[in-house]
Amino acid sequence: MNQDAKKRVVAKAALEEVRDLLDSKTPIGIGTGSTTNCFIEVLAESKIEILGAVASSKATEEHLAKYGIELLDLNATGTLPVYIDGADEADPQLNLIKGGGAALTREKIIAEASSQFVCIADDSKIVDVLGAFPLPVEVIPIARSLVARALVGLGGNPEYRQGIVTDNGNIILDVRDMSITNPQALEAVINQIPGVVTCGLFAKRPADILLVASHRNILKFSRDA
Ligand code: 5RP
Repeated sequence: MNQDAKKRVVAKAALEEVRDLLDSKTPIGIGTGSTTNCFIEVLAESKIEILGAVASSKATEEHLAKYGIELLDLNATGTLPVYIDGADEADPQLNLIKGGGAALTREKIIAEASSQFVCIADDSKIVDVLGAFPLPVEVIPIARSLVARALVGLGGNPEYRQGIVTDNGNIILDVRDMSITNPQALEAVINQIPGVVTCGLFAKRPADILLVASHRNILKFSRDA
């Protein structure tokens, strides 16, 4: 099975995972990326009715609109029963690195606002220790150099992601060589640097369920397992 096929298979598994939560009165959260786009497609094909979806990016809003799924405002929905999103890396404790698609801040807001976060990924994303994937950090433009120096002070090697402006009007620094032995502590430290909007570590609010497509089957990891 190639990577695209795995994304579709895991998207279908996610729909089965949350099917019982969905009805025409249910708002859901939907993240950003190619795996999440597969979920949107699978959801649309299923003809399961939902109230609509809160999207983590303009790109996802466009994909939802293309498939006729109503867009909802998080300020109007209250707590969401479920949030579906992909990841750039996931560890066995369901801590994640996200933000490869530059949507990390809205993703973190929606994850925090959701009772259940179901993360979907192919097996290339699973690691023992986070950090091979450069850690994205969303930064207010005026603070770019200040934040970069602070990240160097933490042992990282930040690189300005050229040509990217986030949906919030900010820039992204991708940080290589960061030692992420304690993701929750590092997330808190980076998020305290003035000018940082948020970093792409999802450890304070990790996934609740992680579905992983491998060559042969779907692996399911739960935080409470
Ligand atoms: C976007 C993200 C995505 O979830 C992550 O980049 C995975 O994307 P894909 O499903 O295309 O591999 O964090 O900000």
